[in-house]
Amino acid sequence: MIGRNDLCFCGSGKKWKKCHYPQTISEENQLLKNTYLQKYNILIKDSEQIEKIKKACMLCSKVLDLVCQMAKAGTTTKELDLFVKTEFEKQGAISAAYHYGSPPFPANICTSLNEVICHGIPDETPLKEGDIFNLDVACILDGYFGDCSKMVCVGKVDANKKRVVECAYFSLMEAIKTVQPKSKIHEIGDAIESVAKEYKCSVVYQFVGHGVGIQFHEGPEVPHHANKSIIECVPGMIFTIEPMINLGKKEGEIDPINHWTVRTVDRLASAQYEHTLLVTDTGCEILTPWEKPDFAQN
Ligand code: MF3
Ligand code: CO
Repeated sequence: MIGRNDLCFCGSGKKWKKCHYPQTISEENQLLKNTYLQKYNILIKDSEQIEKIKKACMLCSKVLDLVCQMAKAGTTTKELDLFVKTEFEKQGAISAAYHYGSPPFPANICTSLNEVICHGIPDETPLKEGDIFNLDVACILDGYFGDCSKMVCVGKVDANKKRVVECAYFSLMEAIKTVQPKSKIHEIGDAIESVAKEYKCSVVYQFVGHGVGIQFHEGPEVPHHANKSIIECVPGMIFTIEPMINLGKKEGEIDPINHWTVRTVDRLASAQYEHTLLVTDTGCEILTPWEKPDFAQN
């Protein structure tokens, strides 16, 4: 008979206990899992689900890095959309955004330029020097979801745009530092608000981060503004943090014609960065490790 310390039958070279040994989930853990599902609609993932979600997330961040390198003055966001579609196809994946929601989202990525907060639709307009924009890439790979986004600055951008972009990035990074077992969801919003205050920017409250992995949008909702959510993080939770930061007023309005594009009410610039995170036993792991922006390199 195979023992726990023998090599696994699957040929991985790992010990059975570290590989395909049947996971006995303690009664206590099972109780917690059930409570989170019933009370909050949060699905705590098991190790097999985590492995698959990690792959989807990795693909998203790799494709995001590639597509960001293509974005130059003169490139159209339609071209970026086609590039991502093709890269996903090469890996047997599809865009999670494509035909999502109602009305069905009409593209494979979101490209949110300047005063667009989120859900911008790629089109034929060429990018121009001085534009800032968010590129949001989400995929379905082998039935599992990943989601991430970052900003691109086209050529030289003005000081205010730089400020909102840096604010969005550093607010995400500070928010991530709060995430660990037993931390509360509101600590994320608290961290983002405090960075926004330093940068004299405002935090969008109408759109939130979200659980992700088995579906595109799952519980919990992860508000980026000050809030009172006392849901506690537990290992196996997977969710996004994706702060949208505005230079001026915090309010956004949805385009009345396409029902997707969200613009700042004052038409001042907005910026956003997004990671998918896994809560681990000791803290959290960034599942979408895209390359850091230039201003964050030390
Ligand atoms: N990261 C974005 C979100 O979670 C991706 C939106 S894709 C869209 O909302 F299809 F919903 F636009
Ligand atoms: Co998202």
